[in-house]
Amino acid sequence: MTQERSAPTSPEARVAAVVVLAAGQGTRMRSATPKVLHTLGGRSLLGHVLAAVEPLDAGATVVVVGAGRAMVEEHLAQVLPAAVPVVQEEQRGSGHAAAVALDALPDLEGPVLLVNGDAPLLRADTVAGLVAAHRAAGSVLTVLTAEVDDPTGLGRIVRDADGAVRAIVEERDATDEQRAIREINAGVYLGDAAAIRRALGRIDADNDQGEQYFTDVLGLLVDEGAPVGGHVAEDPDDVLGCNDRAELAARRRTLNDRVLGDLMRSGVTVIDPLTTWVDVTCSVGPDAVLEPGTQLRGTTSVASGAVIGPDTTLVDAEVGESASVVRSHCLGAVIGPEATVGPFSYLRPGTRLARGAKVGAFVETKNVEVGEDSKVPHLSYVGDATIGRGANIGAATVFVNYDGVAKHHTTVGDHVRIGSDTMLVAPVSVGDGAYTAAGSVITSDVPPGAMAVSRAPQRNVAGWVRRRRPGSAAAKAADAAESQAQASGNDRSEPTGTDHDQ
Ligand code: UD1
Ligand code: CA
Repeated sequence: MTQERSAPTSPEARVAAVVVLAAGQGTRMRSATPKVLHTLGGRSLLGHVLAAVEPLDAGATVVVVGAGRAMVEEHLAQVLPAAVPVVQEEQRGSGHAAAVALDALPDLEGPVLLVNGDAPLLRADTVAGLVAAHRAAGSVLTVLTAEVDDPTGLGRIVRDADGAVRAIVEERDATDEQRAIREINAGVYLGDAAAIRRALGRIDADNDQGEQYFTDVLGLLVDEGAPVGGHVAEDPDDVLGCNDRAELAARRRTLNDRVLGDLMRSGVTVIDPLTTWVDVTCSVGPDAVLEPGTQLRGTTSVASGAVIGPDTTLVDAEVGESASVVRSHCLGAVIGPEATVGPFSYLRPGTRLARGAKVGAFVETKNVEVGEDSKVPHLSYVGDATIGRGANIGAATVFVNYDGVAKHHTTVGDHVRIGSDTMLVAPVSVGDGAYTAAGSVITSDVPPGAMAVSRAPQRNVAGWVRRRRPGSAAAKAADAAESQAQASGNDRSEPTGTDHDQ
């Protein structure tokens, strides 16, 4: 369902290099994190831009870094190790950043795509449209533009009477007449490397900000008489930048609407799109249902017919067909087909539930295999264990996996019945078909078919309450029960014995 992948790139769509401008401070974010590393929909701003240009299969991808460069470089190494970071020591403007990038690619010839690092809604299709328009017109430089309702703060596209692009003017440098223009510069450009290099050598910083604007390259090429074009994006959302947290939230909402729209069109039921959040990196099969308050993050996949939520977060989880996960938090868990989880379960990494398994209310699991049709229905901790098929783990069982130094493994066989409130002190194994008695502390292996009992025999101290808590409500209740029993000839005041199993 990922929405940024399009048809495979045709060979003529190849560009020689992609340059991402990502050195800016992002002052308006007011953050210790560089702007391009802020996230939405499962990727950083930079990650979305890189995904949008990935299908171009460019010869080289260069990312201009500066502000917070160590963090940006580390992130880049994770998301696209093939990309080359180039350092812009001082942020002297987008034109200066482009020049620094091209200096790092001295042998580069042919078409180069330059893109602002803060355009997270840019789509591969839109980039492909820019490439196609550029080729069709035979231009030296083509700028991606959009018609927007509110162009505030953005560069305006100045066209002549024939509709030819003449210049890009930043808002702060624009005349009133130019400010009225609603066609804006998206900050995505495709042009001939040599021509851009030449023009960059001539730009100045003679503007309101005293910066070297990449946008001036366009005017310089027009003055040279070079063919320059503008390609209007079909969806103006594609080009929206992200300069502060309010814009980040707005972009996140738009991106989520797109993801959910794609899912619903592919046959997924989304009960409440306003409270359902799905990363672009997730997949959901047809006839799955996402209840209100569902969040799917990371590499999560949900197979068809599964029901997720309400109020459930799945991170890097895999949910099988027709499984259900209700009011739960699952990290890196594999939930088999027809398995049921929740309400209020916490599944941690390494959890693998086989077909039809059940993990119920207030159960935490970690690094555990639960076999087919086995159940952990209530109030348990299950860590570092293998549970066979058809087993039942009684309420409030704890797999005691940690001795304060190391973690140890517990093995529970097929069709085992673990009694409620059993402590399974690892390393330990319970053989196939064995039982443990409720309240047992199991410290040594239980053979197949055995019943393990490990608890103090019960001792009833008759009359204790009447003697030690005279006059209390409990004593009165006991007296009443005793006289009633005597009256009915059924005197149960004496101890009735202890554990009948012993
Ligand atoms: C820029 C465009 C504007 C366009 C808008 C679209 C310029 C001069 N203006 O404005 O016409 O409408 O994008 O969102 O380019 N950067 C560097 N090094 C620098 C300065 C900037 O790498 O020294 C990078 C930034 O990280 C950013 C990009 O260049 O990714 C654009 O810079 P920014 O300051 O955000 O430009 P805008 O004012 O948004
Ligand atoms: Ca910007």
